[in-house]
Amino acid sequence: MKSQLPPGIRHLPGHLEKARQEALVEIVRAIVAEAPLYTPAMPGTGKEMSVRMTNCGTLGWVTDKERGYRYQSTHPVTGRPWPAIPALLLDIWRETAESDVEPEACLVNHYDPAARMGLHQDRDESEFSAPVVSISLGDDCLFRVGGLKRADPTMSVRLASGDVVVIGGEGRLAFHGVDRIYPGTSMLLRREGRINLTLRRVNPANKTLAETP
Ligand code: SIN
Ligand code: MN
Repeated sequence: MKSQLPPGIRHLPGHLEKARQEALVEIVRAIVAEAPLYTPAMPGTGKEMSVRMTNCGTLGWVTDKERGYRYQSTHPVTGRPWPAIPALLLDIWRETAESDVEPEACLVNHYDPAARMGLHQDRDESEFSAPVVSISLGDDCLFRVGGLKRADPTMSVRLASGDVVVIGGEGRLAFHGVDRIYPGTSMLLRREGRINLTLRRVNPANKTLAETP
């Protein structure tokens, strides 16, 4: 196991002070009221994931047995458009992403104490120059990150409420996952568990006139 984060992966411990964490919890509650958490399923096998999900943004990341991983503009259960990305989340993107483009999707992951997320790449976007910005709220977790190949060495870092991780640059397609939650390590949420928000750019930025041939 390596001890240093791979190139392009930035961990910003405590980036969000308590007041912003609390504001984000209220934001997540409002998102979930409009776009309820649902249980996604793996492509092909239909095996249910242990994490429950929803989204905000013009696009949201979804997966199911029949159609697999993709972005779509509507909630798979309600059929309604996702709520807009709130200003506070856009501020966090602008503070951390070092990117000229705006995010289009924010995936909301809810982990109960037994939930985990297997090692994977975020590669369903058609724009990889912008990073994925990941926000942790609630209980700590053990986050694992490796290289661009599944078999590359990995390292683990404990993420706490208020931490931001930027997955960008040469690490944009790094394998990552969540091995475990540490229940009872945060008082932010009403119950044990963890919320993770990942802001993503999905489509290429519009070319400026100067770049158009
Ligand atoms: C994800 O990869 O979508 C979530 C990562 C995390 O929960 O920290
Ligand atoms: Mn991911």
